[in-house]
Amino acid sequence: MSSVHAIRFAATGGPEVLQWQAVDVGEPGPGEARVSHRAVGLNYIDTYHRSGLYQLPLPSGIGLEAAGVVEAVGEDVADIAIGDRVAYAGGPVGAYAQARLMPADRLVRLPDAIGFEQGAAMMLQGMTAQYLLRRTYRVQPGDTILIHAAAGGVGLIVCQWAKALGATVIGTVGSQAKAELARAHGCDHTIVYTRENFAERVREITGGAGLPVVYDSIGKDTSMESLACLRPLGVMVSFGSASGPVPPLDLGVLAKRGSLYVTRPTLFTYTAKRSDLLATAAELFEVVAAGKVRIDINQRYPLRDAARAHRDLEGRLTTGSTILIP
Ligand SMILES: NC(=O)c1ccc[n+]([C@@H]2O[C@H](COP(=O)([O-])OP(=O)(O)OC[C@H]3O[C@@H](n4cnc5c(N)ncnc54)[C@H](OP(=O)(O)O)[C@@H]3O)[C@@H](O)[C@H]2O)c1
Repeated sequence: MSSVHAIRFAATGGPEVLQWQAVDVGEPGPGEARVSHRAVGLNYIDTYHRSGLYQLPLPSGIGLEAAGVVEAVGEDVADIAIGDRVAYAGGPVGAYAQARLMPADRLVRLPDAIGFEQGAAMMLQGMTAQYLLRRTYRVQPGDTILIHAAAGGVGLIVCQWAKALGATVIGTVGSQAKAELARAHGCDHTIVYTRENFAERVREITGGAGLPVVYDSIGKDTSMESLACLRPLGVMVSFGSASGPVPPLDLGVLAKRGSLYVTRPTLFTYTAKRSDLLATAAELFEVVAAGKVRIDINQRYPLRDAARAHRDLEGRLTTGSTILIP
C-alpha cells in the first residue's frame, strides 16, 4: 500500500506541534477495515489531546471522526464491505489522515442522503446531542433547558434538536453575532455570558423556578454558576472543559441547592456497544433527514492546515461544525 499523509504529533503543546507526515497505512488485520477519508471532523476534544489535558501515548495520531469509503477489509469482518460509504466518531485516535485502519465494528454506514462532508461534520457532535437530550436527561415537551456555547458545533445541534422535542432553549454565547446565530437555530433566549451573569438571567427567565437540566461543556469558568441555575432535583451534565477542567466539587453544595444530580458523561460510554452506536447514529440520521436538525459546516480547512483550525477553534472564532479536507 502506498503511503498517505496524516497529522501526527510527538510532544504536547500548542497547535504548532501538529505535523503533516507521510505514513504507511498497511493492510487491515482481523476485524479491521481500511477507510479512504473524504472529510475529517474537527472536535474540541482534539485540542485536549494535543495540549495534553487528555494524555495519549506519544508520538500519536489525532482526531476521532471522519467519513469515507471502505477500501479493504480484514478477516472476520461481516457487517462492512469494500465500497461502503461509512463514517465514525470515536477511538482509536488517528482520523486526521488521508486513509487509515479502523476497527470495522466502529464504522456506521452512511445513508444515501448524507454526504461525506455532512457525515464527518455531524457524527461526533450529533451523536453527543442525541445522548445528552435523549438519554442523560430525557428532554420533555415544556422543559426549559440551558446549553452553553450554543453557537458551537454541539451547541447548534442541541438548540435545534431540543426545540424539535418541544423544549424552551436558553443558550449562552460569547458574542452578539453568535447570539443571532443561536436564535436562528431555535434558541429562545440567548445570554452573552462574557458580559452578563447567566445564572441571574436564568432565574429571571424561569421566574425563579430554575431548570431541570444544564448542559455544561465550558467547565472551569461556568460549573458553579451552572449549579445555581438548577431547580431542586435538577441534573448538571458536565460534558466538556473548553475553559479548563472543573474544579473539585464539594458534594454539600448539591444538598444545599436542592438534592441535585451531577454527571460527567462521554460519547464513548454511550456508544460502547455496537447496538447503541447504531441506534444513536440512526436517530441522528432520522432528525437530519426529517429537516429537524440542519448541520451547518461553517469552516473548512485543508487537513494539512489542522494547526490553523485548532487556533481558530480555541480562539472562539468558529461557529457550528468544522471539517478538514484530506
Ligand atoms: N463528553 C462528550 O461526550 C463530548 C462530546 C463532544 C463534545 N464535547 C465537549 O463539548 C464542547 C463543545 O465541543 P465542540 O467540538 O462542539 O466545540 P465548540 O462548541 O464548537 O467550540 C467550543 C466553544 O466553547 C466556548 N468557550 C467558552 N469558553 C472558552 C474558552 N475559554 N476557550 C475556548 N472556547 C471557549 C466558545 O464559544 P463562545 O465563544 O460562544 O463561548 C467556543 O466556540 C467541548 O467542551 C467538548 O469537549 C463533549
